[in-house]
Amino acid sequence: MEDIRLNKYIAGNSKFSRRDIDEYIIQGRVTVNGVTVTEPGHKIEPENDKICLDGETVKQTSKWVYIAFYKPTKTITSMHDDMGRQTVMDYVNTKYNLFPVGRLDYDTTGLLLLTNDGDFANKLMHPNFKITKTYDVKLSKPLEEKHKQALMKGIMLTGKKTLPCQIKYKHNKNHAVVTITLKEGRNRQVKKMFEKFGYFVQKLHRAKYGNVPIGNLKIGAWRYLETKEINSLKNLINKESTESRENINISEETESKPNKSD
Ligand code: URA
Repeated sequence: MEDIRLNKYIAGNSKFSRRDIDEYIIQGRVTVNGVTVTEPGHKIEPENDKICLDGETVKQTSKWVYIAFYKPTKTITSMHDDMGRQTVMDYVNTKYNLFPVGRLDYDTTGLLLLTNDGDFANKLMHPNFKITKTYDVKLSKPLEEKHKQALMKGIMLTGKKTLPCQIKYKHNKNHAVVTITLKEGRNRQVKKMFEKFGYFVQKLHRAKYGNVPIGNLKIGAWRYLETKEINSLKNLINKESTESRENINISEETESKPNKSD
């Protein structure tokens, strides 16, 4: 295998983003064959070199795994919970070191992707790649057309304007049930957007991630993504990185990441 950059190797074989890894390397937390290396672009030979982060070996992942999981409500988007609450791990227990791609709230249901491919996951979550996420939302009251239009154009949320999005009424009569498609994934974004205009989200369900629909998965069940689904997500990433190569700013905040404190 050819030499690769230290930060790229760790990104591809761990759950950390390239940006985090660059910081860890600069902070002196990474060793190559026992010697601290503080240069993210340092070239390594994956076959021969032993890479450690905080003393733990970063093993080369031999098989990439991509999973679609139907997250039930009352489940934490995390592989462990110190408080003993139900986690994704209680449903998806494989031999692979999987982690969730982004995060759904405790009470949100629907499609959660899991993988051991850190580079892929971090790109899907990065706002520059503008991967769409589609949610079915039940609101506390019918959504007025003027609020729908304002939300679609973008509103100020915690000091930053939301990207234009799509909102459709699900049924003609009951405008309290809508579908929203976002190209970003800030923390509790859907709830916060509707709350801005006095609507409370009573139910939130993710129906689609990029081109991958939840399909007929049963609640709590999971399946491997089909090759064509993996390729379609990779194509979305490649398309966006080709179109906006000059504009990619890897220091921007990524999609809200899984945590233990939901
Ligand atoms: N937006 C939210 O508000 N919550 C989720 O779980 C996902 C998107």
